[in-house]
Amino acid sequence: MENECLVLLLFILSVYSWDPDAGYVPSWTKMPGVTVKATSGANHAANIIDNDDNTHWISGSCLPSGYVPRADENILLNACSNGHCSAECGSANDLVKMTDGNFYTLSNVNVNTNTTGQQKAKMMIHFPTPIDLHLLSIWGIYKTETELRVTYWNATTVVLKSLQHADNYKQITITKVLNNVKEILLESNSNFQLKEIASIGSEGCRERITVDLGTLREVGMVRTRHWAGSNSATALTMLFSADNIAFTHTVSLIPNALHAVNTDLSPARTVRYIQLEYQLFQKNYEKVYCWEIDAWDHLTLWGKPVIANTQKNTIRNILGVNGIWGWQHSKYSSLLNSNEGPNLYNAVASHARNYHNLDWDVTSPSKDPQYCEMENNHGTQAKSWLNWDTEYSAWRKANLVIDVSFQFTNKSFPQKVWQSPEIEAFNLGKHFASHFGAAHGNGLVDAVEIGNEPWDYEASFYNKILKGMSAGLKEIDPKIKILPGAFQAHDKHDTGNYIGTRVTQNLAVNISVVNFHTYSFRTNSHGVRIGTYPEHSDSSFNSIRNIVRWRDSNMPSKPIWVTEWGWDADGKGESCTFPECVSEAAQALYGIRGLLILARSNVQKVTWFFYANSQYCHTLFCRSGLTASTTHNFVKKNVFYAFEGILNLIGDKYFLGIYQENDNGYVYLFGLSHAHVTGSSMSRQQLLQHASHIVAWKPVDISEVSISTIRVQLGSAINHVSIHKFTGQFPAINKTNVSVNGTVLDIKMSAHPVVVELRPSNVGSGQIVG
Ligand SMILES: *[C@@H]1O[C@H](CO)[C@@H](O)[C@H](O)[C@H]1NC(C)=O
Ligand SMILES: *[C@@H]1O[C@H](CO)[C@@H](O)[C@H](O)[C@H]1NC(C)=O
Ligand SMILES: *[C@@H]1O[C@H](CO)[C@@H](O)[C@H](O)[C@H]1NC(C)=O
Ligand SMILES: *[C@@H]1O[C@H](CO)[C@@H](O)[C@H](O)[C@H]1NC(C)=O
Ligand SMILES: *[C@@H]1O[C@H](CO)[C@@H](O)[C@H](O)[C@H]1NC(C)=O
Ligand SMILES: *[C@@H]1O[C@H](CO)[C@@H](O)[C@H](O)[C@H]1NC(C)=O
Ligand SMILES: *[C@@H]1O[C@H](CO)[C@@H](O)[C@H](O)[C@H]1NC(C)=O
Repeated sequence: MENECLVLLLFILSVYSWDPDAGYVPSWTKMPGVTVKATSGANHAANIIDNDDNTHWISGSCLPSGYVPRADENILLNACSNGHCSAECGSANDLVKMTDGNFYTLSNVNVNTNTTGQQKAKMMIHFPTPIDLHLLSIWGIYKTETELRVTYWNATTVVLKSLQHADNYKQITITKVLNNVKEILLESNSNFQLKEIASIGSEGCRERITVDLGTLREVGMVRTRHWAGSNSATALTMLFSADNIAFTHTVSLIPNALHAVNTDLSPARTVRYIQLEYQLFQKNYEKVYCWEIDAWDHLTLWGKPVIANTQKNTIRNILGVNGIWGWQHSKYSSLLNSNEGPNLYNAVASHARNYHNLDWDVTSPSKDPQYCEMENNHGTQAKSWLNWDTEYSAWRKANLVIDVSFQFTNKSFPQKVWQSPEIEAFNLGKHFASHFGAAHGNGLVDAVEIGNEPWDYEASFYNKILKGMSAGLKEIDPKIKILPGAFQAHDKHDTGNYIGTRVTQNLAVNISVVNFHTYSFRTNSHGVRIGTYPEHSDSSFNSIRNIVRWRDSNMPSKPIWVTEWGWDADGKGESCTFPECVSEAAQALYGIRGLLILARSNVQKVTWFFYANSQYCHTLFCRSGLTASTTHNFVKKNVFYAFEGILNLIGDKYFLGIYQENDNGYVYLFGLSHAHVTGSSMSRQQLLQHASHIVAWKPVDISEVSISTIRVQLGSAINHVSIHKFTGQFPAINKTNVSVNGTVLDIKMSAHPVVVELRPSNVGSGQIVG
């Protein structure tokens, strides 16, 4: 009875704890009570917090006359009401109207009516301190010639313009910059009237948009899509304030950055107001835009780091590779040589993933793929020549465990060609498992993904496919591993691939593995997406945190597979020309570091994209190969050797836990067995007792040359220590990088990981073999 209650309670908890947004870290600007104010264009201001990068605030324009009523731009506004204007006596007592910001009110400046002296109509604005005028405009009605002059503080006077009857009612603008002005004067022999006189000072035209977070928040990163328009702004500054009065900590942004830019504020600050101040070109009708502003605390949109649990899989078993039918040889893998295709890549892969296109199997989702006919070499329903068994058998022969990404999208199989999506998907799943699964088929396939990146279907439509196909697969083969398409958990507003709407609670039951893709990009200050090292705080590689959180919350018993990850790089005669490309050496280095970070992030498998560079291909992801393309004979790139090197050293070891993980160095511990090790709850001294290897590096860009040192206090028995370098691809590591004195081990860390082996056998005291 008690047990039943417990089961029921757990059931209720599990039902209620499903959180589709468990991985997502909302931006401070998306919280209730957030408001936006702008110096102009106020009716569009809220567009910068509407979760849509493609809607914008647009400012008003300062010129030709938008600045006139604005106290922040018109330095003459209210000069007269503040007592800075005077006229010859006889003028009406209405001078204030020429600096009131309103063109419809007139000031009258009359000829002096006394009988002595020269008869003039004269008006003067005088400044108590020197002032710079960058633009001066005047609107008036003149009976006869009226002179506009300035007097400088050095007592020189210059005539700026002789205003005529023809200038009546017009805006007359002086664009010459006038520095150290003391007085502005207008003088005529006849009465004249002034509608307005206005000026832009040395600050020029500025527009500001300010987000009020509603309360004080810790802000560590701000994401701005702030593209100002084509060459509309000369400068853009981001400012912060706690009280909307003192704005501090200014950051310069590049106004022409087209894509969103992340600004790292470390150390984080506690603020309430985030302001963008645009400096506009002084041109008529110039306007600026802002598209979106987001802000997070110091953990940014990725949130807390994953708590590192001890791995249950060796490094070799974790690492696999993405392949394809024939591996660029245009023939079945069964016809390849012992150093080609699966036989080449299995040196660094324990599993391989295939893009198995649904349109190779059926011409329409309602069709039976006829895998039995295929088995007898009569082809599939769609391709008369095709036999997947021939292909997959060769992969299996090369000891590759097979994950099939059953690939279809709204492009290849539009929603409308699915007559009854759930039933058709169910049947396709059934056919697939009957043929390829272990329970009733040939057992060639270990896992199947329901779509690769099926992001162009509507979520509700994809839900039906997922439900039907997973049920069909499961009904025939309870063991075949079933994966949904690859989705992410960090961006709720990217509706195409957000897991929260794609993998829903009712569908989770028939899913065995959470499927995830990650690449290591960030945007630079120019708003250009670039490739970066995996530990960079802005790197999209950090999105592993969000998906792990999502899994931990919603499907805690199911593993995560990262079925695509990697870096594009040049090398071996094949260039890489995109901003996301890194060097061949960096690809190798980041590959190793990325692998170890994923191993430490509680994922079960990771599948490198791609086995080889692609041929005749000039887009991103064409240079992510472990080898060159067939054009260059699949020559191994550095990353291939690096993976071979790390697998030779610790391929049969398990990640045990973290010794240290901070900016100074990542120091991970590996051991021969994971039994009795609980990485997340043991002290690092306890973990060390189980460790056979230490891998240590500095989490920095490959170009960074700085070194830092970690001192590891070993257990009492200090034994043989040896250090290792990867097959000649990295700068030499030698005994200067590691030193032992008694139980103290010092490791010098650089961007290049050092593997230190701690041998259990007592063959020497601190002898170092380089
Ligand atoms: C008459 O005007 C002149 C200058 O235009 C001025 O200097 C003088 O003081 C004025 N006289 C009287 C009586 O207002
Ligand atoms: C007086 O100041 C103005 C503006 O600052 C300058 O252009 C001019 O050359 C100066 N004149 C003399 C005589 O110094
Ligand atoms: C799916 O493709 C059709 C065209 O075949 C298109 O009209 C529709 O908008 C697409 N659906 C989505 C969600 O993109
Ligand atoms: C899961 O699969 C089983 C076996 O086919 C099926 O009976 C069940 O309806 C499926 N559940 C869901 C939620 O699709
Ligand atoms: C070890 O490497 C450093 C530089 O990395 C070099 O200066 C030193 O001579 C090397 N020592 C030996 C013994 O090879
Ligand atoms: C080794 O450590 C001992 C103290 O434990 C110290 O006295 C000695 O100087 C150290 N040797 C070197 C070479 O650093
Ligand atoms: C080894 O140390 C030297 C300098 O002492 C450094 O240049 C080199 O990068 C280090 N190697 C590694 C892998 O840390």
